[in-house]
Order: sequence, then C-alpha cells, then structure tokens
Amino acid sequence: MKKKAELYAGKAKSVYTTDDDDYLIIHFRNDTSAFDGEKIEQLDRKGMVNNKFTAFIMEKLEQAGVKTHHVKLLSDDEAVVKKLDMLPIECVVRNISAGSICRRLGVEEGMDLNPPTFEFFLKNDALHDPMLNDYHIRSFGWATDEEVEQMKTLTFQVNDILKKMFADAGMLLVDYKLEFGRFKGELLLGDEFSPDGCRLWDAETRKKLDKDRFRQGLGGVIEAYEEVGQRLGICFD
Ligand code: ADP
Ligand code: TMP
Ligand code: ASP
Repeated sequence: MKKKAELYAGKAKSVYTTDDDDYLIIHFRNDTSAFDGEKIEQLDRKGMVNNKFTAFIMEKLEQAGVKTHHVKLLSDDEAVVKKLDMLPIECVVRNISAGSICRRLGVEEGMDLNPPTFEFFLKNDALHDPMLNDYHIRSFGWATDEEVEQMKTLTFQVNDILKKMFADAGMLLVDYKLEFGRFKGELLLGDEFSPDGCRLWDAETRKKLDKDRFRQGLGGVIEAYEEVGQRLGICFD
C-alpha cells in the first residue's frame, strides 16, 4: 500500500491517504506534546515505540472481540488503518484518581475509584478539551444516542481486557483515553493506545510509566514506555 497525500498532521501523528479510499497510513512521529500542544519536544524512538505498542494493543483487543481500525504494521513507525469518520469526542475511563479529575474535583491522586468512572471530552485543543455530558453530544449532534451508549460499553469493555493485561504484567491501568469513528455503518476504535494516552503505574512502587513523566519533567520518558512494552512482551528491535 502506497502513501498518497498528507490528509492531516496532528500533534504526534500524521495521517496519509493511500491508493485505496478505505485505508489510511498513520505515521507516528517522535513529537511529544502535552497541555494541548503547549509543551512539545522530540523524543528519540517514540514514534516507533508508540506504533508497535498501539499495534500490539489493538491486536489484543481484536482477539477479545473489540473492533478496531488496525489493519497491519507497515514499518517501524507507520501502520495501515481503516479510514474512519472520527467522532470529535474523547472517552476516558478512570480506575484511580489522577490528572484533571484531581484538579476539577479537588480529590487527591491515587484514590481507587470503585466503580471506575467515565467522562466524555470534546476534542478541541483551543478550548482545552472541555468535558461533555450525553446531552451536549445529543444537542450538538456530535454522535447519535446509540453511538453514545456504544462508546461507553466499548470503553468499559476495553477496561476489563486491559486492566487485567497490565495487572498480569505488574502494572496499574490508572486511566486512558479512547477515540472512536464510523466505518461502513459500524463504530470502530481508532487513533492509538500507548503510554501517551493512558496512565500506568508500577503496581508495587506506583512509579509513573506514562506521559506524566513528560508532563511533569520526571525524565526517562521513552525508557519507561519501553519498560512497559517489554513487560507486556512487545519487541521493539
Ligand atoms: P491530535 O489531532 O490530537 O493532535 P494526533 O497527532 O494523534 O492527534 O493525530 C492523529 C489524528 O488522526 C487525530 O485527530 C485522530 O482523531 C485521527 N485519526 C486516528 N485514527 C484515525 C482513523 N482510523 N481514521 C481517520 N482519522 C484518524
Ligand atoms: P486527564 O487526566 O488530563 O483528563 O487525562 C485522562 C487520560 O486521558 C490520561 O490518561 C491522558 C489521556 N488524555 C489524552 O490522551 N489526550 C488528551 O487530550 C486528554 C485530555 C487526555
Ligand atoms: N494530548 C494532549 C496534548 O498532546 C494533552 C496531554 O497529553 O497532556 O497536548
């Protein structure tokens, strides 16, 4: 499959059309962004690590019955995916309090959330991804009622699969963000699943192994991503 034109250059990935209208090529760049693009740096190996990480997770999810956009890895830092009509919505599940929920609700980091909680956000950097409720999504027509329910069900289904997978490898899945899109009348999981878009802590020490290392200037960002991958059995060579 051949790249044609650049369709979209996001903060961390570039998306290309291909010779088949149903498929895109995603290029995972080394650009690392936080705070809605306010902090951007190039981190060596990041594109390759997140590409292979995402492919591994998408394949695990497919095996467990979650339909995704993933088709195949094309190179170290590129993958072929189904071209989705993306919903402008981010779906977040939180198992443990961290990040924006601590700021918004004044709760301390590290509280077990039982049951896990769910939040929708509007994908809009200029507005700093404001939180949405089901009524906003319905009133502005960003997704149908059926899609709203499907996004919740699928995002929690992903939680059941991945929380166990990370726990088996000695990690806590603190929270994560998913994006969905339409493909031939179906809602599929799109975008990526990597330590850029989730929080992962070592289960014993609670050491942060995700993009919070970059956000908080803790160093060892890609080393931590690679450690997570190695614990899961992903080969980055
Ligand atoms: P951002 O837009 O947040 O800066 P990225 O740098 O990750 O993000 O850019 C990737 C873009 O590609 C995102 O806007 C994402 O919604 C979009 N995207 C991801 N997967 C697909 C897909 N399968 N089809 C179409 N667009 C996709
Ligand atoms: P938050 O605590 O900043 O709301 O983030 C919750 C989770 O979602 C966290 O794992 C990071 C991820 N996330 C993204 O990947 N991209 C985003 O734009 C936002 C707001 C969160
Ligand atoms: N994904 C957003 C950004 O790249 C927010 C974040 O990760 O902090 O800026």
